[in-house]
Amino acid sequence: MRILFVCLGNICRSPTVEAVARSEFARAGLRVEVASAGTADYHVGRGADPRSIRIAAAHGYDLAAHRARQFHAADFAAFDHVLAMDRANLRDLRRIAPAGAMPALFLDEAEVPDPYYGGDADFEDVIALARGGVEAWIARLRRSAEAGR
Ligand code: 4NP
Repeated sequence: MRILFVCLGNICRSPTVEAVARSEFARAGLRVEVASAGTADYHVGRGADPRSIRIAAAHGYDLAAHRARQFHAADFAAFDHVLAMDRANLRDLRRIAPAGAMPALFLDEAEVPDPYYGGDADFEDVIALARGGVEAWIARLRRSAEAGR
């Protein structure tokens, strides 16, 4: 199982969700590979936003090794789930999705708001939404593993 998280810049939201997912999936005993990408190329090759690094670290998640990369259409074939942080990201993914590819929102019917022009509280919100969303995915992956047994 491979899951790709996608935001705009791949320096704030999707790297945070990736780190939370890697940590919580492992804690839950789920073998899932995770990665992240951005629809835009603004920050390709750069590390995560320093604010994301600092606030994630305060919650025990390590973003130090992250390097931003841009989403490519080939990612649809390489991942089982391509999960967008907000509706604009989802729209951008759908625009380049090959037939049969089904990008979705990471959160059911809700968005992870872009914290880039915000303050620490907005980055804290990303952590809380990441945790809640990852917990929901853990439950979902467990249900489908049980159904397939
Ligand atoms: P992200 O946040 O999509 O969560 O990584 C952003 C990062 C950079 C920009 C916008 C959002 N930007 O406009 O450069």
